[in-house]
Amino acid sequence: MKALEQLRETMRRDRVFDFMAGSHLVHPGEIDTRHGPILYVENVNVSFDGFKALNDLTLYIDDGELRCIIGPNGAGKTTMMDVITGKTRPDSGTVFFGQTMDLTRMTEYEIASSGIGRKFQKPTIFPEHTVFENLELAMHMDKGVWSSLQFRLSGEQKDRIEEVMQTINLLAQCHTAAGLLSHGQKQWLEIGMLLTQSPRLLLVDEPVAGMTHQEIEHTAELLTGLAGKHSVVVVEHDMDFIRSIAKKVTVLHEGHVLAEGDMEAIQNDPRVIEVYLGE
Ligand SMILES: Nc1ncnc2c1ncn2[C@@H]1O[C@H](COP(=O)(O)OP(=O)(O)OP(=O)(O)O)[C@@H](O)[C@H]1O
Ligand SMILES: [Mg+2]
Repeated sequence: MKALEQLRETMRRDRVFDFMAGSHLVHPGEIDTRHGPILYVENVNVSFDGFKALNDLTLYIDDGELRCIIGPNGAGKTTMMDVITGKTRPDSGTVFFGQTMDLTRMTEYEIASSGIGRKFQKPTIFPEHTVFENLELAMHMDKGVWSSLQFRLSGEQKDRIEEVMQTINLLAQCHTAAGLLSHGQKQWLEIGMLLTQSPRLLLVDEPVAGMTHQEIEHTAELLTGLAGKHSVVVVEHDMDFIRSIAKKVTVLHEGHVLAEGDMEAIQNDPRVIEVYLGE
């Protein structure tokens, strides 16, 4: 009887090992990037009262990449982010986070918790609270703001907040009320608040609008530094800024990809010059 039990146990164990030898098991809720892309946007259409904001939009973002998205006003850049984050539902098309997560079937909350962080133009910081407290609140946002205030941080979590403050260049402002920060610093704080959630994909819409030259430079360093650890999608009209960070650039026009490539190719593309850069 005991031998039989042992045999069963061995079989179970060996089956498990066989299974694991197949490598890269993907567990539910895990982001499957084995084929390279972390985001698949395919043939997406969005209409507002008959106006096609997104028109058969297809693009892929690779895991760890920093992608710049440019294009004229009304090209559909923000609408694309709205679709990825679940704020706007596409009329047709598919949006996948990794190979297995169908974002069109998830709520905004589920999408955010699955690892997609979005920075809005207007920072949603708590002005009365310090930089540290803002990051602490963001870290526990999923538990609700009020319980977060009473939440006790572990040493590991404190280290993470410190690491984030260093990344966003606000270590010296740790105890400063967020409301007293400069415009640029508030933007970085909001990026930091997203980072406390350790997102895999960060969507950043017009991050340098209204920033000083020096703040723009710091933002360029910050975003390029995040790539690799995170995948970052940046929408911006400031072409000097785009040139300073660009690896691969996608140009949107009338809800569709007009051109894609490195900055050099994009700048010399006659179609891009005609609809955007030649303005
Ligand atoms: N909720 C909405 N209802 C109606 N129309 C909308 C809505 N959201 C966007 N649009 C329209 O869809 C088009 C695309 O807008 P979107 O904001 O995506 O452009 P964008 O590329 O982000 O432009 P910008 O560079 O000015 O930010 C615009 O014509 C806009 O007016
Ligand atoms: Mg926009």
